[in-house]
Amino acid sequence: SFKPLVFSGVQPTGNLHLGNYLGAIRKFVALQESHDCIYCVVDLHSITAQLVHDDLPAQTRSITAAFLAAGIDPKKHIVFNQSRVMQHAELAWVFNCVARIGWMNRMTQFKDKAGKDRENASLGLLAYPSLMAADILVYRATHVPVGDDQKQHLELTRDIAAKFNNDFSRKIASLGVGVEMQMGEENVSGFFPLTEPLIEGPATRVMSLRDGSKKMSKSDPSDLSRINLTDDADTISKKIKKAKTDPEPLPSELDGLKERPEADNLVGIYAALAERSRQDVIAEFGGQQFSVFKPALADLAVDRLAPIAAEMRRIYADTAYVDSVLRDGGERAGTIAEGTMKTVREIIGL
Ligand code: ADP
Ligand code: NA
Repeated sequence: SFKPLVFSGVQPTGNLHLGNYLGAIRKFVALQESHDCIYCVVDLHSITAQLVHDDLPAQTRSITAAFLAAGIDPKKHIVFNQSRVMQHAELAWVFNCVARIGWMNRMTQFKDKAGKDRENASLGLLAYPSLMAADILVYRATHVPVGDDQKQHLELTRDIAAKFNNDFSRKIASLGVGVEMQMGEENVSGFFPLTEPLIEGPATRVMSLRDGSKKMSKSDPSDLSRINLTDDADTISKKIKKAKTDPEPLPSELDGLKERPEADNLVGIYAALAERSRQDVIAEFGGQQFSVFKPALADLAVDRLAPIAAEMRRIYADTAYVDSVLRDGGERAGTIAEGTMKTVREIIGL
């Protein structure tokens, strides 16, 4: 069977926010104990929605600094930026030929990001999930920690792996490069694993502070909608104070949050930051007004985020160190990726 291996990536665009931290980076840190991990700053993805960026190298270093500040160990695991390892793009091309246009057209993130003028979106934006599948499968990663928003892309990654395994099944068998894997009751064999998402915990989808129906996102034009990892204490307090809520106090039962997305989101954020259950948070704050709960949430957020922000600034200032981490990580990642691509070229006949 496949060796357990974790891969995940974050784009170097805009400020990292609380959603990125709780939905992704904090999980990256936790998984280091139990898995071999590869964490990537996906710069090739960042040019799909917007081609020209002011200072992409600085953005890449900033995300890298966030990884390291949050506690990822670049000696035990691999931290690098995607464009250093060209095998990502090479495998993505292969996957562009494996995947069907219809699969890409169905992706909700493409529909959201392309907006109304779909004909005018970049071809790269449409093919984004194909590159994401390549990022994961070029390491034959078995697990991907991501926010709930990436679930559909992970399903597509499995579809691509399954189609490749199936289309080339005879060649994979004759070269003897198939690996056994357990799929429910069935035992199947293939070159690529059917990668599982790791989506769990109380804040897998952090919503906007201004609109409980939208996820917190870097691309939201309103800075009040998100808490950035680098926001200072006053800014965090102000944003939480201004967060949209309803006039009712917090319910005394978890069920009472059902029709109240904004309240539910704040309780979920509190639970995630405190590493307690929602139930527990409601047991403590049920019946209280937001005028009590919001300051408690602000204090907790500042307490958890301020040390990371300070460490991030310290690491970011050491450009030579950050670059050396990326260079070393890129070399180690490149060795694994080239191993996979050698076999892929052989399977296809390239
Ligand atoms: P964004 O969606 O803000 O552009 P990315 O696409 O770079 O951020 O996502 C980086 C990681 O953060 C992904 O694993 C994604 O699932 C996670 N993530 C992004 N937004 C949220 C959110 N609002 N809640 C939970 N996880 C999120
Ligand atoms: Na995203």
